[in-house]
Amino acid sequence: MTTIQFPADFLWGASTAAHQIEGNNLNSDWWQREVEPGSRLAERSGDAADSYHRYRDDIDMLAASGLRSYRFSVEWARIEPERGMVSRAELAHYRRMIQYCLDAGVTPLVTLHHFTNPRWFVRDGGWLDPGAPDLFARYVETVLPILDGVSHVFTINEPNILAMMIGGEKGEEQLQAGALPAPDPVATEHLIAAHRRAVDLVRTTGIPVGWPVAPQQFFADPGAEEVLRAYAHPRETVFLEAARGDDFVAVQAYTRTRITLDGPQPAPEGAEVTLTGWEYYPPAIAEAARLGHEITGLPVLVSENGIATADDARRIDYTRDALRHLHEAMEEGTPILGYLHWSLLDNYEWGSFRPTFGLASWSPETFERLPKPSLAWLGGVARDGRLDVD
Ligand code: BGC
Repeated sequence: MTTIQFPADFLWGASTAAHQIEGNNLNSDWWQREVEPGSRLAERSGDAADSYHRYRDDIDMLAASGLRSYRFSVEWARIEPERGMVSRAELAHYRRMIQYCLDAGVTPLVTLHHFTNPRWFVRDGGWLDPGAPDLFARYVETVLPILDGVSHVFTINEPNILAMMIGGEKGEEQLQAGALPAPDPVATEHLIAAHRRAVDLVRTTGIPVGWPVAPQQFFADPGAEEVLRAYAHPRETVFLEAARGDDFVAVQAYTRTRITLDGPQPAPEGAEVTLTGWEYYPPAIAEAARLGHEITGLPVLVSENGIATADDARRIDYTRDALRHLHEAMEEGTPILGYLHWSLLDNYEWGSFRPTFGLASWSPETFERLPKPSLAWLGGVARDGRLDVD
């Protein structure tokens, strides 16, 4: 058994996103998509984990485990439920969350946009509309006054995945197994413009700002390097390049994707796959961190990494190995600021509650929080920054 030591100022925590845990996010485009007749989504988010009301339980649970940082998102659809109409009460709600973290000795990190949009924004053209960056910037300005005490701000979560979701919504493409939709190029341009606007605005507060990109750890068969480059460029490279000049780059990774001359391939026959159907591949996050640093030259913050599994012991295996690889990357010179696990809670995985990523589950009847052994394990690692590996 070997023990590895992380730096004393390494940031240890867990992440969540509003729509996936709060419940009843009625004014968001995802809620609308879930309830519309003929919705193709298997489940609705409904009450989710009711974290809108139970955030204190969540923060207390995180703090009790030994973790010291909590990344959560503020919900644009609550703060601006109709175009130009700001809810002071919802701003006060998120301020209370930030304050509750600070009072509990937990460092809050805030995401301004995590996949969901207000319904009115989508009605008026969404990310395809040239006015989108202005509308986002106006919302960001509204949020700035509540951010006091926040350690890091993330502008738009996984803009690369969001641009692919928007591209995929057109439904024109026939996707081969293992392939990701082509990102919409107009949405890409507007997301990058919105990010730049948000960075300038957040900088007026002095809080470090960046955005979390989700690289897919593409690896090429011999001869398929050019196929890889062309496939990866619109799906991740441009978004990492757009982070140059930020205060840090955040990365989120779960698995890898093989690229052959025929393009991307699904997880190989016989490979261990998780509840999302992704190949079990713990080195993913270290590879993502190296790539993020190589492209941007910035320090890297791991803002998500985890595994959808019903076997909590496997979650610990995965996380231990992911951390070991991250530590190696740090020793080789990649500056890594911290590790935020996805996710604190089992949550609404964009259409289904079945892929359980949580360090804790909850009772669907009472919403009582039920920490899993992995939460105490990760909190224990966080307490002294020491990790036992084989
Ligand atoms: C997202 C999360 C999601 C997780 C697992 C990331 O793509 O930011 O919202 O639940 O990965 O799929």
